[in-house]
Amino acid sequence: MSRVWIDICYLVASVLFIIGLKGLTRPRTAVRGNLIGAVGMLLAVVATLFDHEIVSYGWIIVGIIGGSAIGIYIAQTIKFEQMPEMVALLNGLGGFASFLVAGAELSRKLTDARATAGDEASKQELAKAIAAALPTDELVAVAASGIIGAVTLLGSLVAFAKLAELKFMRDLPQIPNQNLVNIIAGILVLLFSTLLVQDPNVFLYWLIVIVCLGLGYSLTISIGGADMPVVIALLNSYSGLAGSATGFVLQNNVLIIAGSLVGASGVILTKVMCDAMNRSLPAVLFGTLGPSASTKSADEVYANVKATSAEEIAMLLEVARKVAIIPGYGMAVAQAQHAIRDLSNLLQSKGIEVVYGIHPVAGRMPGHMNVLLAEADIPYNQLKEMDEINLEMEQTDVCLVIGANDTVNPDARENPNSPIAGMPIINADKARTCVVVKRSLSPGFAKIPNPLFAADNALMYFADGKQAIVDIIIALKSG
Ligand code: TAP
Repeated sequence: MSRVWIDICYLVASVLFIIGLKGLTRPRTAVRGNLIGAVGMLLAVVATLFDHEIVSYGWIIVGIIGGSAIGIYIAQTIKFEQMPEMVALLNGLGGFASFLVAGAELSRKLTDARATAGDEASKQELAKAIAAALPTDELVAVAASGIIGAVTLLGSLVAFAKLAELKFMRDLPQIPNQNLVNIIAGILVLLFSTLLVQDPNVFLYWLIVIVCLGLGYSLTISIGGADMPVVIALLNSYSGLAGSATGFVLQNNVLIIAGSLVGASGVILTKVMCDAMNRSLPAVLFGTLGPSASTKSADEVYANVKATSAEEIAMLLEVARKVAIIPGYGMAVAQAQHAIRDLSNLLQSKGIEVVYGIHPVAGRMPGHMNVLLAEADIPYNQLKEMDEINLEMEQTDVCLVIGANDTVNPDARENPNSPIAGMPIINADKARTCVVVKRSLSPGFAKIPNPLFAADNALMYFADGKQAIVDIIIALKSG
C-alpha cells in the first residue's frame, strides 16, 4: 500500500478515535463509542501492516498471537473489582513499549548511520551521518519517550501493587528527603537528555531510562492510598504522552494522534478526580497522606455503634417515602448490584421513591458504580451526582449505604486533622436514618475510622452486601 493510502487510513482512524471518545462521554452512547474506537484501531493496525518498511512478519505474528492469548486470558479471568489494577498494569505496559521502541529505533538508526559513513569515516563524517539519520527533533522525542515511558512503567507498577494491596508494599522503604531526591533525579535526567541530543548514544539513553525508573518509583511510593485515583488518571495520561513521543520517533501519525488523545483525556480526568477529592495536583504528588496523629482511634470512634437486623431495616423501609442508596466499593466486591435493583423495584412498587447517590471516586476506578448499576439495568435517571443528592439528603427518610466508607465519612467535612479533610463526601449522615451495610467495622481504602457508623441516626448491618440486600427483600416480602 502506498504511503498516501496508509496516511488516509490513519486519518480515518484518528477521526474514528475522536468520534469514539465523544461517544464515551455518555452512558447511552458509550458502547457504540467503544466499538467505533476499536474499529479505528483495527484500521490503524491493518494499515500499518502494509507499511513497506516492514521487512518480516515473523515477530509481528508471534506478538499478535502471544498478545491476543494473554489479553483474552486476562479479560476472561479478571474480576470486575480488579479492573483498576488492570488499568494500572496496562498504563505501565504502554510506557514500557514506548521506551523499548524508542531505544530500539535509536540503536537501529545509529547502526545504520555508522554503516553509511563506513569504517574509514572521520569523526566529522560520522557526526554528519548521525545528524542526517537522527535530527534534533527526533532525538528530543527519543529522550521524551525514555523519560515518560520509564516513569510510567515503574509508577504504574507501584500503583498496581498499592491497589492490589500486595503485602510486600508495606515493607518497601520510603525514600528519605524524597522531594530533594526527586529534584536531583530530575536535574540528572535533564542533563543526560541534553547530552543525548548533542551526542546521541545508546548508553546515555538507557541511563536516562534507569534514572526515570527510579523517579517513577519515588514519585509514586509516597502517594497516599486515597489519592490513588488521581495517580491512575495521571499515569494514564503519561502512557499516552509516551506513545505520542514514540510516534514522533517513528514518524507515525496515528500514534502521535492517538497518544495525544490519551494524554489529553488523562489530564482532563486527573483534573476531574482532583476536584472530586478537593486536592490540588501538587498536594497529591508531593504531599503524603496517612492517618495523622490527631485522628481518633477506631475504639474511641466506635464506642456507640448500634447493630441492626434485616427485619428492622425492612420496617424502616416500609414507612419511608424516600430512600437514597449510596453504593461503594463493597457493592462491587459483593456483586450486589442485581439484588439492589430487585430491592429498588420492590420499594418502588410500594410507592417509595428510590434514588442512587454516586460519588465520583466511589469504588476503585472512575465510573465504577455507574458501570455496575448500568449492568443491572438500573435506569440512569435514578442516578444522582454527589452535589445533587446532597441537596436532597435532609428530605431522605432512609439512606442505605452499601459497601461505601471513605466517600460517606463526615470527618472529611468536619475534622480538619483528618487525612481526607476537604474531600467532598455524600452527606449520608444528614438523612433521617442512615443504614450502613458492610461486613465489619474495618476501614475503607484511606484506612481511617468513620464516625458515621457511630452517629445517633445510624444503624449498622454487618453482612456481605449481596446477602444483606437479599435478606432485606425477604423480610420486606414476609412483613
Ligand atoms: P471504601 O472506602 O474503600 O470502603 C469500602 C468498604 O466496603 C470497606 O470498608 C469494606 O468494609 C466494605 N466491603 C468490602 N467488601 C464488602 C462486601 N462483600 N460486602 C459489604 N461491604 C463490603 O469505598 P468507597 O466509599 O467506595 O471509597 C472509595 C475509596 O477508594 C476512596 O478512598 C477512593 O479515594 C479510593 N479509590 C478510588 C478510586 C476510584 S477512581 N474510584 C481508585 C482507587 C482508590 P468491610 O470489610 O467491613 O466489609
